[in-house]
Amino acid sequence: MPMTIQPQLYSLIGTNSQLLLAVSDNADIVYYGNRLPYATHSDLQQMAIGLERPIPFGRLDTDIAVSINPQLGRGNFGASALEGFRENGSDWAPVFTITAVKQDGNKLIIDCLDQQAQLGWQTQIELDQNDVLQLSQTVTNLGTSDYHVIRCANTAPIADNASEILSFYGRWIKEFQQHRSQLSHGGYIQENRRGRTSHEHYPAVIVGEHGFSDDHGQVWGAHLAWSGNHRMRIDVKADGRRVLQAEALYLPGEITLQPQQSLTTPTLYMSYSHHGLNTMSQHFHQHVRTSILKDRLHKPRPIHLNTWEGIYFDHDPNYITAMATEAAAMGVERFIVDDGWFLGRNDDTSSLGDWFVDPKKYPAGLSPIINHVHQLGMEFGLWFEPEMINKDADLYRQHPEWLLAVDGYDQPTGRHQYVLDLQNPAAFAYLFERLDHFLSQYEIDYIKWDMNREIVQPAHNNRAAGCGQVERYYALVDKLLAKHPKVEIESCAAGGGRIDYEILKRTHRFWCSDNNDPLERQEIQRGMSYFYPPEVMGTHIGSHCSHTTRRTHTMNFRGNTALFGHMGLELDPVKAGDQEKTAFSHYIQLHKKYRHLLHSGDNYRLSFNDSAALQGNMVVSKSQSDALVSINQLAMPTYCLSGRLHIPGLRADQHYTITVVDGPDNLHSMVNRQPPWLTSQQHFSGEWLQTVGLTLPIMDPESSLLLELQIQ
Ligand code: GLA
Repeated sequence: MPMTIQPQLYSLIGTNSQLLLAVSDNADIVYYGNRLPYATHSDLQQMAIGLERPIPFGRLDTDIAVSINPQLGRGNFGASALEGFRENGSDWAPVFTITAVKQDGNKLIIDCLDQQAQLGWQTQIELDQNDVLQLSQTVTNLGTSDYHVIRCANTAPIADNASEILSFYGRWIKEFQQHRSQLSHGGYIQENRRGRTSHEHYPAVIVGEHGFSDDHGQVWGAHLAWSGNHRMRIDVKADGRRVLQAEALYLPGEITLQPQQSLTTPTLYMSYSHHGLNTMSQHFHQHVRTSILKDRLHKPRPIHLNTWEGIYFDHDPNYITAMATEAAAMGVERFIVDDGWFLGRNDDTSSLGDWFVDPKKYPAGLSPIINHVHQLGMEFGLWFEPEMINKDADLYRQHPEWLLAVDGYDQPTGRHQYVLDLQNPAAFAYLFERLDHFLSQYEIDYIKWDMNREIVQPAHNNRAAGCGQVERYYALVDKLLAKHPKVEIESCAAGGGRIDYEILKRTHRFWCSDNNDPLERQEIQRGMSYFYPPEVMGTHIGSHCSHTTRRTHTMNFRGNTALFGHMGLELDPVKAGDQEKTAFSHYIQLHKKYRHLLHSGDNYRLSFNDSAALQGNMVVSKSQSDALVSINQLAMPTYCLSGRLHIPGLRADQHYTITVVDGPDNLHSMVNRQPPWLTSQQHFSGEWLQTVGLTLPIMDPESSLLLELQIQ
């Protein structure tokens, strides 16, 4: 009989979730689910025997835990958390022994050592009161020769009833698209080698019990906070156990640890809910608010006007001044001059890197515009794309060696441009000097920091350097913010190509997509809402005719879609007619009225029977006294009656007054009768609204209804 070592059980307790780790010669997550309110520590310790597995014939004679650090040398046949080797090929299958476990409240640090391979391994794991788990690993080379790391992954064993996956795919102008797949044998793998977080593979997966939905089912959400190449995989082991791994993806030879050097993985964020995805999202949103943004969004999010789709590269300071005047008159609070202001930048084929004001376009510099914007009471923002370079730029003519490239090879351009090697100290110093110059010289309140191409040859001194590039990018932002702590930064990468928690630690907003078509935006923002609260989602009202899809939409649909985020305008207000300007002001005023609620309350995605055609969002204040509900008819209703609206998150024992705040112009003229509750102010109990519901109106495709609920 193989000997059983009775494991020591460690418990991390969140508000609604709990994690149990069994620690013997290895550490294993044996439970991650609902909080166990009645179990005392000694109870747990005693009951852990109920988790010991049988040992079948035909396999190893010992039970092998999946563990948070699977190792081939221990008999884990899945992917080892650490893969690496020394120059002579040794130490490629380390076997770690736990040397210390330190628990400090809800934080656990587990130290491991492989004496023979001279490698240290530390796991940091924390479950916070928002029910968000953070997991990261540090490997240290304690030997006297270099250790080459091939992979170093965060590993989280997951429950065996997790049989369905929700993941996200996308592309430029179509970010955060949802995809469901089944998990039964084999597994799921997602790899990103595009050098930035990417539109294609948002670094997250959500797993759950079969058929999980926004308001139903056990779900475990996982997001890797990293803005570069990554790998996420879920393996169903041959014995039915399941394990999730998330890691930065290293290119060949990229990571070598010199003696005494350490490597820490990006953090894996997870959250568990047994009430479906809305609760999971609320955990993530609350964590983003309290632990990632902290108090950085200390003032109401100012309404933007961004010049890009209004004027593109056609910059005339007098015209831009007029745009600012019109913007302020409509209630805009931050005016951003986008691409086209710097030396020789007349289209997207040249000038990236030449961060000097173009004297031809701006003979008096930027100050007159900035002063004008400030005098109008708005903040001023400026677009940069610091990491990039065009070959047709003075910077390239002076420093062709600053290109991020493998010597001797050509490489494809992306939007006619190349990337700068940020690990080159001179290139880094140049960029810092230029950005610092602008922030010191001018009163710039906001930077739109763009990154418009993917990286194909991330090399420094010809060695692979994908991670190094990302780390130097973080360092550049950090250095800039250390000197200019008041400046706000938007993370943009051809729209939503760089959206993740690690960059959010140093930025204030994401540009979700270059697609301002509200029909597309509904899907994009919905996908993004699984992990991000509305206040970090840049949502702009674009022109009547979308620049990316050529579809046209009503103000109602455009305005209400932009409302559920950090709102702005993406158009030329000078060319807007009076009626349009009145409509823009209307939605700006609505956003101002509701932004506190939108940016602090609990968010819910609402689902209806006719889910492909009808969707909804809502936000409820923490006190549950106010709520805003948006019902969006995306496509032609399948049936002529759409069923009922159920409103969650309210106080069952209280009554609410419902007011229609905004709706399509033809709401009442297209049918014999809409539901009577729409036309007169009605009161319903929270219990009724959640359980019995209200009949939905009949709406045209691509229209939106906005309701306000107030406790009586
Ligand atoms: C990217 C951004 C746009 C705009 C342009 C400017 O595409 O996503 O919003 O800033 O670059 O070139």
